[in-house]
Amino acid sequence: MAGKFITFEGGEGCGKSTQMQLLARYLRRQGINTVETKEPGGTQEGQILRQLLVTGDKDKFDPIAEVLLYYADRRNHLTKVVWPALQENQWVLSDRYADSTEAYQYYGYDRRINYQTLQDLYQIVAGDFKPDLTFILDIEPEVGMRRSLQKAEGMKVKELRFESRQMEFHHNLRRGFLEIARREPNRCVVLNADTNIDDLHQQIVEVVTKRWKADE
Ligand SMILES: Nc1ncnc2c1ncn2[C@@H]1O[C@H](COP(=O)(O)OP(=O)(O)OP(=O)(O)O)[C@@H](O)[C@H]1O
Ligand SMILES: [Mg+2]
Repeated sequence: MAGKFITFEGGEGCGKSTQMQLLARYLRRQGINTVETKEPGGTQEGQILRQLLVTGDKDKFDPIAEVLLYYADRRNHLTKVVWPALQENQWVLSDRYADSTEAYQYYGYDRRINYQTLQDLYQIVAGDFKPDLTFILDIEPEVGMRRSLQKAEGMKVKELRFESRQMEFHHNLRRGFLEIARREPNRCVVLNADTNIDDLHQQIVEVVTKRWKADE
């Protein structure tokens, strides 16, 4: 079967990383070669960009500079990781992708960047390439944030640049992801993430198997 590109999106602590790992494990058990990756920071160089983007003062970049850094990371990630893997018919699972840029940089900050600028950058960097499927894990920001902050207590480098923003930002973010899903209902599947890990995993497996049963 041809490779697929599946992305996991949603606010802080909704369970993206947890669910991506579980789906990767499931796919490998089905004999599918699966690559797990993430944005920002899916490449060695991207790790340096990630450091810049997720730590430190929340206002350290001008909006355009920030978005360009995300898109530099994205281009590197696509050319070095995502596209080569898809060429080899591997499945690629990414913990965040372009919907996060749109949700954070456009909706989260109350549209402080021009929407068309984001679309133009996407086109330059990725052309018409899009994920085959995107899971949007939807959760009350307060619940996700509680999970995220608990997790950060155990981390050496605390990636809290976005967690430190006002709750209003996180509510905007949530609405942004839901708006994206409304606009692209075929690509995006919204799931309630305020449920236990195994139930959510089962729902994700069901969506994936239903979508690609015809190819098997
Ligand atoms: N369904 C769930 N119910 C309760 N706790 C969960 C659930 N899913 C994940 N968690 C826990 O919540 C924390 C955040 O989960 P995870 O890291 O998967 O989320 P994330 O969306 O990747 O977060 P971030 O945006 O911070 O990267 C982890 O400690 C994880 O074990
Ligand atoms: Mg994560």
